[in-house]
Amino acid sequence: MCGIVGYIGTSDAKEILLKGLEKLEYRGYDSAGIAVRNGEDVRVYKEKGRIAELRKVVDASFESSTGIGHTRWATHGVPNHDNSHPHQSETGRFTLVHNGVIENYEQLKKEYLSDVTFKSETDTEIIVQLVEYFSKQGLETEAAFVKVLELLHGSYALGLLDAQNPDVIYVAKNKSPLLVGLGEDFNVIASDAMAMLQVTDTYVELHDGEIVIVTKDDVEIKDIKGNVIERAPYKAEIDASDIEKGTYAHYMLKEIHEQPGVMRNIIQKYQDEAGNLLIDPAIVKAVRESDRIYIVACGTSYNAGLVGKEFLEKWAGVPTEVHVASEFVYNMPLLSQKPLFIYISQSGETADSRAVLVETNRLGHTSLTITNVPGSTLSREADHTLILHAGPEIAVASTKAYTAQIAVLSILAQVVAKDAGIETGVDLLPELAKVTAAITSIVDDAETMEQIAKDFLSTTRNAFFIGRGMDYYVGVEGSLKLKEISYIQAEGFAGGELKHGTIALIEEGTPVIALATQENVNLSIRGNVKEVVARGANPCIISMEGLEAEGDTYVVPHVHEMLAPLVSVVTTQLIAYYAALHRGCDVDKPRNLAKSVTVE
Ligand code: F6R
Repeated sequence: MCGIVGYIGTSDAKEILLKGLEKLEYRGYDSAGIAVRNGEDVRVYKEKGRIAELRKVVDASFESSTGIGHTRWATHGVPNHDNSHPHQSETGRFTLVHNGVIENYEQLKKEYLSDVTFKSETDTEIIVQLVEYFSKQGLETEAAFVKVLELLHGSYALGLLDAQNPDVIYVAKNKSPLLVGLGEDFNVIASDAMAMLQVTDTYVELHDGEIVIVTKDDVEIKDIKGNVIERAPYKAEIDASDIEKGTYAHYMLKEIHEQPGVMRNIIQKYQDEAGNLLIDPAIVKAVRESDRIYIVACGTSYNAGLVGKEFLEKWAGVPTEVHVASEFVYNMPLLSQKPLFIYISQSGETADSRAVLVETNRLGHTSLTITNVPGSTLSREADHTLILHAGPEIAVASTKAYTAQIAVLSILAQVVAKDAGIETGVDLLPELAKVTAAITSIVDDAETMEQIAKDFLSTTRNAFFIGRGMDYYVGVEGSLKLKEISYIQAEGFAGGELKHGTIALIEEGTPVIALATQENVNLSIRGNVKEVVARGANPCIISMEGLEAEGDTYVVPHVHEMLAPLVSVVTTQLIAYYAALHRGCDVDKPRNLAKSVTVE
C-alpha cells in the first residue's frame, strides 16, 4: 500500500527518492511522485502507473539535495496525475506526501477551506491546504502543522516541505508506519527500512502522535505538546541481497524456493542449545493461563490461523477460534473469561488487525503477535511477539510467510503441550526436518507444477479447490493464491459442502483441485471428486505418499498429517505462479492489490 520516502542531505535527492520508491513498489501502488527542492524552488513530478513512467518525467538537470516521494494506492479518487502525491497548497508554498486515510476531511474542508480551489479528489490535499490556512493566520510552520494534526481524525504518515524553510522535512505519524533513517550529513524518512537501505541501515522508530523535525544534521522527535523525546536508533537487520530477486524471474518464485531455508531457520531460532524446542516462557504462560484463544488475522495470515487452531486445540488443548480482523472489530463475539488474542500478520502493519488489537488492549486482554517484522506496529503494541524469521517477503502474494506462520504456531502448540504435560505423540523437530525435505523435493520439481498449471489452468475462467480438514484450509489458501495473481475466479470449499449449492457451477472441463493428505477423510474426499467428475469436472488430485491412488496428478512426500499443509500448499503456490505466468499476468504486482494493507 502507499509508501513514503524522504531525503535531506548533500547528495542528489532525485535518484535516492526514485530508488527508494522502487524498493517500495512491492507494497502495491497505482501512481507515484516526488517533490524536490532547490532553495525555495520546489518542483513536483508525478505520474500514473509505474515508477519507470515517473522517471521519464523527472527533470534530471534540476539539482536538489532535499525531497519527498510517494507511491499511491488509490482510496479517495481514481489513480491519475492530479490525485497522485505530492500535493501542494494553493500558493505552492507547502508540499506534502501522506499515507493513510483522513476520515473527517469533508467536514474540515467545509469548516476551514470553502474558499480554496482544490486540485484533487483526495483526502490528503485537505492537510496541506490546512497547513497553509493556519500559516496565513500567522502560525509558524511547525505550529501550523501541529494545529492541523490536532484536527485530523484517521490514519496518517506525513512528510511536509515548506518552500520558505528549506532545511527541514516536517514529519508526523498516526496508525500508519513511518521510520526515520540516520546518516552522516543526511537523514531520511521511509515507510519501511528496505526503501532506504541504499543509504543507511540505522533507523529510529516513530510512535503515534509524534512529530519529527528532520534536518540534514539532526532529528528531533516531539510529542504533540512539544516535549522532546529521546529514542535510541536500531540497526535494520536486513541483508541487501534479501531484497533482490537474484537469478529468479520473480520475487514470488524466489520466496517459494526459499521455504526450505525458512523452515531450517525457524527450527534453529526456536531451539535451545540442548536441542529442545524453545518459546519465551512468558508466552507459554500466557497460553496456559488462557481459557480460549482468539486468532485474529486477514487473508493468507487468516488461512494460516485456521491450521494453527488445529495445533492449539489438538496438541495444546486450548479451545481456539479464528476470526477475520475486519469483521471482528465491528462484531466481537462474547469473549471467554481469560482470552488470549493472537494476531498473525506477515507485515505487522495491517490496519484491520491493528484496529482489533487497539480494542483488545483497551479491554485489557493479553495479546501475542506473530509477525515477520520485528518492531512493526502489531509487534510493538502487543504484549508478546514471536518472529517468523522468514526474511523480507516482497512479492504481494504471500508464500513463505504462510508456511513460516504455520511452523511457528506448531512449535508454540508443542511447547505449550510439553509444559502442560500433554502427550501429543509428535516429536516435532524431526517431523519439521521431514517437512523441509518434502518442500525441497517439491520446489526441485517445479517443472511438474508448471505442467499441471498448463494442463488444468491455461484457459479456464474458474477453478475450485476442495479438501477436508487440514486440506480444506490449504484449499482456501491455494484458491486465494490462484485468484490474486492469475485472476482466475477460484474458490476453496470443504469437500462435503460443494454439493450443497456450489456444485451447480461445475461444467464440462471445470478444474477441481482436490487435496488428499488426511487419512480419516481420504475416502470421503475421493467420493467428492467422483461427484464433480460425474458432472464434467477436470480433477487434479494432489495426494500424499501412503494415501495415493491410481491416477492422482501429484503425490507429495509423506509427512505427519498435521503438518501436511506445510507441504501440500507449496504445490498450490507453484501451480498458481505458473498459471499466472502463462496467462501473462504481472506475478509480483497483481492488479488492485497492496502488500501491506495499512488502511481499514
Ligand atoms: C495474500 C496476502 C494477503 C495478506 C493479508 C494480511 O497473498 O498476502 O492476503 O496475507 O493482507 O497481511 P499481513 O499478513 O501482513 O497482516
